[in-house]
Amino acid sequence: MTNFAIFISGSGTNLQAIIDAQRAGNLDANISLVVSSRPGAYGITRAQEANIPVLVMNKEDYADPQSADTKILDALHTHNVDYVAMAGYMRKVTPVILDAFPSKVINIHPALLPSFKGAHAIEDAYKAGVKITGVTVHLANEEYDKGTILAQEAVRVEQHMTQDELEEAIHKVEHELYPRVLQSIAHGQLCVE
Ligand code: GRF
Repeated sequence: MTNFAIFISGSGTNLQAIIDAQRAGNLDANISLVVSSRPGAYGITRAQEANIPVLVMNKEDYADPQSADTKILDALHTHNVDYVAMAGYMRKVTPVILDAFPSKVINIHPALLPSFKGAHAIEDAYKAGVKITGVTVHLANEEYDKGTILAQEAVRVEQHMTQDELEEAIHKVEHELYPRVLQSIAHGQLCVE
């Protein structure tokens, strides 16, 4: 069975959606490791409640990004990880991991790339007044938000929607799309040549 590692930094609602999909029989894969870049991330609790091993990193670890990734890479090997899925991970993945997992590091971004790259994609799209935004699942590479696009789903910005409502709509789509893409990967239906 395919082993995924999920990388998080925050609340971990996408991690939860992936755990739930697996429990519901909609994801035929193991979540063999969660890596959190922050000791305070609520996603750590979600992982622990699901009995998933967690590697908790901290600010000091990332003082040298390459040695941080070497430490993470060791854990990925220990847990026989096949793919890395970032879900709100706020650290850049260096070539230490990218080269060891070529075309196997995935990210989810809350906008339709290549529009609205960066850490404030939902707010930026809302403020730009776009009528359609959405969610992108893509491969990670050394440049932020620029890897090959694997899947996208549109979200319509309704006329009287607040930014909070848009955020909610985006997250709802994320929680459905990400497990579905991971399932395709686990079944070998999605590969990048
Ligand atoms: C998601 O919106 C994801 O697209 C972005 O960070 C957010 C993570 O949320 N990269 P959560 O931690 O999964 O709740």
